Amino acid sequence: MLHDPNRIFVFDTTLRDGEQVPGSQLTTPEKIIIGEALQALGVDVIEAGFPISSPGDFQSVVELSKVVREPIICALTRANKGDIDCAAAALKHAKRPRIHTGIGSSDMHIKYKFNSTREAILARAVEAVKYAKQFVEDVEFYAEDAGRADNEYLAQMIEAVIAAGATVVNIPDTNGYCLPEQYGAKIRFLKENVKNIDQAIIAVHCHNDLGLATANSIAGLQNGARQVECTINGIGERAGNTSLEEVVMVLKTHQSLNLHTNINTKHLYPLSGTVSRMMRMPVQPNKAIVGRNAFAHSSGIHQDGVLKHRETYEIINPEDVGIDQSEIILTARSGRHALKHHLERLGYAIDRIDLDQTYQRFLLLADEKKEIKDDDLLRLMGDEAETNFK
Ligand code: KIV
Ligand code: ZN
Repeated sequence: MLHDPNRIFVFDTTLRDGEQVPGSQLTTPEKIIIGEALQALGVDVIEAGFPISSPGDFQSVVELSKVVREPIICALTRANKGDIDCAAAALKHAKRPRIHTGIGSSDMHIKYKFNSTREAILARAVEAVKYAKQFVEDVEFYAEDAGRADNEYLAQMIEAVIAAGATVVNIPDTNGYCLPEQYGAKIRFLKENVKNIDQAIIAVHCHNDLGLATANSIAGLQNGARQVECTINGIGERAGNTSLEEVVMVLKTHQSLNLHTNINTKHLYPLSGTVSRMMRMPVQPNKAIVGRNAFAHSSGIHQDGVLKHRETYEIINPEDVGIDQSEIILTARSGRHALKHHLERLGYAIDRIDLDQTYQRFLLLADEKKEIKDDDLLRLMGDEAETNFK
């Protein structure tokens, strides 16, 4: 079924699971800008929304379907006919439509959310997939809270929905509960125990409540899943979803995993900024891959190493993710090497400067200010003669 068994399909849900964050709602034009950028990034699937949730969300799926033509456009539903009818209508113009339907699979959800039984929920799952199949060929099924579901029951449910026509089976760790080993083992269990599993793609969809979303997604992929569901900057409900940029760069950095995506990684940093601005969600400075400090070196030991050879303290080339170059930040923890680097960059002829003496003056200033910028350096060097310029 898959041409390349090591290809990982990237399913972006920034516009659906990501947009559920309070205060981050997007207008249809904003969704289209992000959708086009996701297409340029090379994602395989864009989950454009949950059409039954509001008229605005319905319209966004309609408009996005008209203009974003390369990736599959997916719409979310619960396991009921009304939701599925609505999603099918919203996807009417999509070139490659997918309906994403599903239901809770853990006893916690079955008992407290649905006040139902395992048997009845399984029947509803099958019915929803069969119903969605009348509208589109590509139907993805999600087994909500699969992270906490009983594996034997989950396997029965997955086997039944594949038999009903599901093309992708999504195994969400909805509450970010699992450990990587547990989640990986769950995917392996399904691979080994669901008879018809090779007729569908297994998707991993992890939340970050324990900070394990990326690790869990990778564990799932290592154990046979071939679709990863994620968001730009890891935005999403509560602690967020798996961060697209993290999972993609893990796969790129660890070639030994022999798993690859179609993502043009040079678009990652610019798109992170666009999503952050439009969704009014600042990116934490130490966020892996796209945070302001992800490629900034501030301690003397690290700066000295990086200036000698970039790879001493950088496992990713910043250019690969769309950042021009790493930064050497000048603070009171910086060493002579970093100061020399910046002075040379500003045009000073180092061999004509007393570097030790300048460094002592620099430290006094750096103790006062948190960070020394070019202006501060120029002021610090103000009394240096013109001849000290190259
Ligand atoms: O986290 C989750 O379980 C979901 C499903 C609706 C796919 O977002
Ligand atoms: Zn989710």
